[in-house]
Amino acid sequence: MPDIESLLKERRSFKPSADFSRQANWNKRTTSEYRKLGEKNPTKFWAKMAKENVDWFKPWTKVLDWKPPFAKWFVGAKTNVSYNCLDRHLEGPNAWRKNKAAIIWEGEPGDTRTITYAELHKDVCRFANVLKSQGIKKGDRVCLYMPMVPELAIAMLACTRIGAPHSIVFGGFSAEALSDRINDAQAKLVVTADGGYRKGAAFGLKEMVDAAVAKSPCVETVVVVARTNQDVEMKSGRDLWWHELMADASTNCPPAKLDAEHPLFILYTSGTTGNPKGILHTTGGYLTHVATTFKAIFDIKDDDVYWCTADIGWITGHSYVVYGPLANGATTLMYEGTPTEPGPDRWWSLIEKWGVSIFYTAPTAIRTFIRLGDEHPKSHDLSSLRLLGSVGEPINPEAWMWYHRVIGGKRCPIVDTWWQTETGGIMISPLPGAIDTKPGSATKPFPGIHANIFDEEGNATTGEAGGFLVLTHPWPGMLRGIWGDKKRFKETYWGKYDNTYFAGDGAHRDKSGYFWIIGRIDDVMNVSGHRIGTMEVESALVSSTDVAEAAVVGRPDEITGTAIVAFVSPKATTTADDALVARLKKHVTKEIGAIARPTEIRFTNALPKTRSGKIMRRLLRDIASGRDVAGDTSTLEDFSVLAKLRESEED
Ligand code: PRX
Repeated sequence: MPDIESLLKERRSFKPSADFSRQANWNKRTTSEYRKLGEKNPTKFWAKMAKENVDWFKPWTKVLDWKPPFAKWFVGAKTNVSYNCLDRHLEGPNAWRKNKAAIIWEGEPGDTRTITYAELHKDVCRFANVLKSQGIKKGDRVCLYMPMVPELAIAMLACTRIGAPHSIVFGGFSAEALSDRINDAQAKLVVTADGGYRKGAAFGLKEMVDAAVAKSPCVETVVVVARTNQDVEMKSGRDLWWHELMADASTNCPPAKLDAEHPLFILYTSGTTGNPKGILHTTGGYLTHVATTFKAIFDIKDDDVYWCTADIGWITGHSYVVYGPLANGATTLMYEGTPTEPGPDRWWSLIEKWGVSIFYTAPTAIRTFIRLGDEHPKSHDLSSLRLLGSVGEPINPEAWMWYHRVIGGKRCPIVDTWWQTETGGIMISPLPGAIDTKPGSATKPFPGIHANIFDEEGNATTGEAGGFLVLTHPWPGMLRGIWGDKKRFKETYWGKYDNTYFAGDGAHRDKSGYFWIIGRIDDVMNVSGHRIGTMEVESALVSSTDVAEAAVVGRPDEITGTAIVAFVSPKATTTADDALVARLKKHVTKEIGAIARPTEIRFTNALPKTRSGKIMRRLLRDIASGRDVAGDTSTLEDFSVLAKLRESEED
């Protein structure tokens, strides 16, 4: 089988400005020292980071205990995540942070709250005492099913304070999905809200919890935040109001001294088949990983206003809305609602209003805003921005360029960060003051991270190569298992190669050692014996001035093995006709070669996406092949998209 080919040739490269590099937390010199240390001795590198970036109640006796595929980091050490995110900013040299904003929150209707470190500490202690009073003990699981409100962060930190692992279920999931996750983790308590605001209206959550808990007998208590004040049914003996419990709770709650390997949280992620996987993360290693990467990659300073647009229900929200920023004493902005409510400029108005200096979002959002038109960001003063980030999918070079030009005003470095729910924190990313960036490349592995590209036989490659992205040495934020399923953990991540983590992504490494992530390996197409990543054909399509978004899949073809089918959303100003089809085929041929020219191009206004914004190519493959859509569709965001795609097929 041939290696995955790289057809996309990207030659643009961007240096950080001298001013940016000079002030960077990690400049060229530190980065190169850390790279050397991390290369030679990753364990020593991470031990150094753990000392610098985390406070410990008791030191470790051994940095890493590695019995593949089971790793223990900082063996014997004791710490507490909420202590590191709160208490240490209220005492000692950083005591001045007590009145600094920890969380700036804005609701979709425009209501706002600013919570200082001292206030957050008090609320977290109160809620930790509430949990205790409801019988939650160290090790008990607590499920959080909430809108993007500060109480979600408070509940997370309160869980960590007493050592009760949380399992956050994204508020967009159905009662069925919620119940499955509650049952798998055997959660005793659920924290929810009456509802939240999205797309200009209040949606309900409590009724979903009622339906889920009816099938989840393990739940003893439901705590309800009043957010929308809509009518909800409160079941006596089970349901309690957050504000009533908090009014009586004490603000005194010393942090539990927890083992470094104490379970911190479970987060469910969907696999290709079957049940969702409960990804388990533990305390000391995860905290070290997110605190270090946040400081280095987001270059955080005390006067920054940092905004990551992810919902806390995803790993990005866990690691880089809450834990990474708060461990660094940063100000983190949380926004409750949809990006385009009440108008297409809401995000840009938030950046202007709060003076956001560091902004982290996903390619899907960037592509949506490209489609909506430059006039919206241009109508706001975005000059407070100094650094931009991207996560969740490969970013097409043209989307990168737009982000750089229109949002970053050509002055902000972009950190394209590759990682996964399973990795806990960022693994491959630019260090913004220390490396030149190339549009579409996540650049190089973070110091202490050993990433490589393997071929099908499991041979490690060197130099320029394409193949399977792997991690060859354990890292502190790595998943410790799949909740309750050791076998699946071993098979999914460690079964393909010996002692090596298989990420499930394809990647290419160029001559200068830069990594280009091609996307999920399941999406790779084999056209006439050439393995081509869908992302490259999509990027070529998006680089045409007519196209806003594109998704490419393969369908079986007698002659070439696979024929390339492209689903294309044209820009609002473009007419979708046969002439456009011809233009686009020609364009792809010119950009990356005839081998990648789509056999078929279909126009659509919307693509099927997961709730976190990833294109569901699996469904498009079924549609392109004329098959019925099979498999799990519970993570699909908008079912009407699927119906529309089917209709267009019948036309
Ligand atoms: O395919 C990669 C893609 O997202 C997958 C992980 O998804 P999830 O666990 O939901 O976590 C998303 C947030 C970390 C990866 O296997 N992915 C993530 N970041 C990038 C990416 N693909 C390309 N470039 C990225 N920067």
